[in-house]
Amino acid sequence: MTSQRGPHAYLSELFSLDGLVAVVTGGSSGIGRAIAGALARAGASVVVVARRESELVATVEELTAEGGRAAWVGADLSTRDGVRAAAEKAAAVFGEPDILVNSAGINLRPPMGELGEDVWDATMAVNLEAPYLLGLRFGPGMAERGFGRIIHLTSQQAHRAFVQSGAYGVSKGALESLARSQAEAWSPHGVTCNTLVPGFVMTPLNTRLSADPERVAALAARTMVGRNGLAEDFAGAAVFLASRASGYVTGQAIFVDGGFSVH
Ligand SMILES: NC(=O)c1ccc[n+]([C@@H]2O[C@H](COP(=O)([O-])OP(=O)(O)OC[C@H]3O[C@@H](n4cnc5c(N)ncnc54)[C@H](OP(=O)(O)O)[C@@H]3O)[C@@H](O)[C@H]2O)c1
Repeated sequence: MTSQRGPHAYLSELFSLDGLVAVVTGGSSGIGRAIAGALARAGASVVVVARRESELVATVEELTAEGGRAAWVGADLSTRDGVRAAAEKAAAVFGEPDILVNSAGINLRPPMGELGEDVWDATMAVNLEAPYLLGLRFGPGMAERGFGRIIHLTSQQAHRAFVQSGAYGVSKGALESLARSQAEAWSPHGVTCNTLVPGFVMTPLNTRLSADPERVAALAARTMVGRNGLAEDFAGAAVFLASRASGYVTGQAIFVDGGFSVH
């Protein structure tokens, strides 16, 4: 049964991001880029944040060519000062964000025995500290305004060791805990905090693994759907978590992995 207003009005009430502002770190590549596109198509004004200008420009051109409202901020999220500067620049474009997506991430994968402090520090800085600092910068404002959505990208390695999990798995495990801590703090004020958990997605992050057809096929066979992930697979879940529809979903880790993790 559809309401008298019709399905479009109903869907729009649930999922439209019209009038909302989103900041997407890592929004110039892979999963983050697909999510930035999804949020823009759903009506949000989107600021993508990353280091490489060429990728940022290409992303914004694609989104604006489609009629979306998008802009970019060049920033290095591997230092606390870099994160702080990025946050101020991002908020200056379309105003304080209603939606924060932390997709920027690195996976350096040295064997555990060779994992030096430099890799540990770099991994924690980008994968964990940047989301923490951005949450601290934007979360209280969202809470004050009574609406906010924080979405982190974690990994199955938050739950199990897999292909040299090393510091990466540790950072993602902690990021899931961060989402719960943020959810506890701000959910009473309309700010939900959740994570999306990818399986194996063919993006620049795992170029080396993606170049091995046998490994790629073996990973696809481990899913229930029968294929590896695509960045576009995250569009629906991201719009859901960013929208009013997910107001009672918080502190959760939502697996978008074709069933990889459940058998
Ligand atoms: N692909 C997978 O199979 C998979 C699986 C599990 C989890 N994930 C997670 O999903 C998220 C997105 O991954 P992806 O596969 O889409 O990776 P990707 O294609 O490599 O994109 C990573 C993004 O992060 C940005 N970035 C990296 N370091 C940065 C820094 N220091 N400062 C600012 N931006 C930085 C990159 O841009 P610049 O290099 O230009 O800065 C890029 O936009 C990551 O958090 C990743 O850990 C991915």
